[in-house]
Amino acid sequence: MIAGSGLPAFFRLERFDELDSTNEELKRRAAAGAAAGTLVWARSQSAGRGRRGRPWTSPPGNLYMSILLRPECGAGAAAQLGFAAALAVGEAVAPLLPASAGLAYKWPNDVLVGGRKISGILLESQAAGEGRLDWVVVGIGVNLASFPETSDYPATSLVAAGATPVSLEALLKAVAGRFLVWYERWLAEGFAPLRRAWLARAYGVGERVRVRLADGESTGRFAGLDEEGALLLEDGPTRRRIAAGDVFPAVR
Ligand code: BTN
Repeated sequence: MIAGSGLPAFFRLERFDELDSTNEELKRRAAAGAAAGTLVWARSQSAGRGRRGRPWTSPPGNLYMSILLRPECGAGAAAQLGFAAALAVGEAVAPLLPASAGLAYKWPNDVLVGGRKISGILLESQAAGEGRLDWVVVGIGVNLASFPETSDYPATSLVAAGATPVSLEALLKAVAGRFLVWYERWLAEGFAPLRRAWLARAYGVGERVRVRLADGESTGRFAGLDEEGALLLEDGPTRRRIAAGDVFPAVR
């Protein structure tokens, strides 16, 4: 166990055997005034949630954690914290994986290994008025021991990808530690360093991709990220800025 707790002092760990969802628990605590740095960790979730209302299968053996933040920014900038979380997961798992494993970041916040999803991130926030946020909850799921066979994107786990064995406690500590590094960098320097690091390992940049949107799909060349983290999709002379969606390989 993370007795005492081995995490950077910023964090206050709240540990559970089972929750409905670590995001839900942390949102309840945020509404009750919990401090930034509160970190909720559950061994399993009975109602784990993914982006766009999708379920997140959450049996024991995988990592389910949520971090509460109270940055002084609006919702657009807070969305960049998803990149901080993806970088944190990538940097936590990279040393465990064979060099040939093929670690990549898939816009906006997924982490892939060998083209399969190993981690998903769910950001939720509450407005405080005047364009500011009261809180942001960064929910992070990492498939350590198992992965769902049925999901909208092929998945994998650290075990299936041949990673060096790691305990949930050590993985939690590594992800939280790397997240804090990127969060503090974002506070001090803005999004630019996160954007650079993310693009260095991004899936599909320069290639044709399909982007699933709330109201349909768009296909085009993934031309990179803008300064705020939106995806730039080119179709001939047209360049479109996409703030929310899911990337898939283009159907040939
Ligand atoms: C996605 O890829 O759709 C996002 C998945 C996010 C899953 C994590 S697990 C911890 C936290 N609690 C939840 O209910 N969801 C997030």
